[in-house]
Amino acid sequence: MVRKATATLWSDQDRHPGDRERLFIAVSNAIEADRVLYPGSFVDISPSFVFDSVVYVDTDKRAAKFFADEEGVLEIIAEHEHAPAEPEITFLHADYTEPLDMPARSADLLVSLFAGFVSDHCTDYLRIGGTLLVNGSHGDAGLVSIDPRYDLEAVVIARAGEYRVSTANLDTYLVPKKTQEVTRERILASGRGIAYRVPAFAYLFTRTD
Ligand SMILES: C[S@@+](CC[C@H](N)C(=O)[O-])C[C@H]1O[C@@H](n2cnc3c(N)ncnc32)[C@H](O)[C@@H]1O
Repeated sequence: MVRKATATLWSDQDRHPGDRERLFIAVSNAIEADRVLYPGSFVDISPSFVFDSVVYVDTDKRAAKFFADEEGVLEIIAEHEHAPAEPEITFLHADYTEPLDMPARSADLLVSLFAGFVSDHCTDYLRIGGTLLVNGSHGDAGLVSIDPRYDLEAVVIARAGEYRVSTANLDTYLVPKKTQEVTRERILASGRGIAYRVPAFAYLFTRTD
């Protein structure tokens, strides 16, 4: 049975019911991935609604308590139509800026959503040819856009709670509104996303190196 505290944390996370599930369904239809790494996940277990094996990482004590209710977490996952039959869930109560207890290049998909400079610290865990899903907040997408290890492959467009992955007109994305030089130092110092002329909800990059 799902513990009350687990259910409450999940319903707070799933404020717009099914929103993240729809995001990850769209992403899973666009890429091949089994093993996912999600640093700064808090209690967002929606990748497990579609992907077989997910490593969640967070420093927050509430997230640690949430994942400690393994039976409850698996029960929430099982309620979802596309959930794998036997989802593998690992929670690391850890700071992702420090070395994580997982092998290098072991993830097919690295997720960076509203959690800081995940790409900067966790790219080593992503296999070459693997995918990074990153949104525009906190500056991580800007950092990746100038990272020679990554190529932009697609964007995720959100409209009225629906998500679509598009590869059209990719050169129109990640172009800053203001004429400014995009540098690593500037992005790290501001810790904020860059305002782009044509924004997307998120971006899918391939690790090439
Ligand atoms: C704004 S929440 C976003 C949670 C989730 N990614 C989402 O989109 O709903 C940011 C989370 O990242 C975690 N976080 C930030 N920096 C971290 C770090 N260095 N290591 C581990 N977790 C971190 C915080 O504890 C927090 O739970």
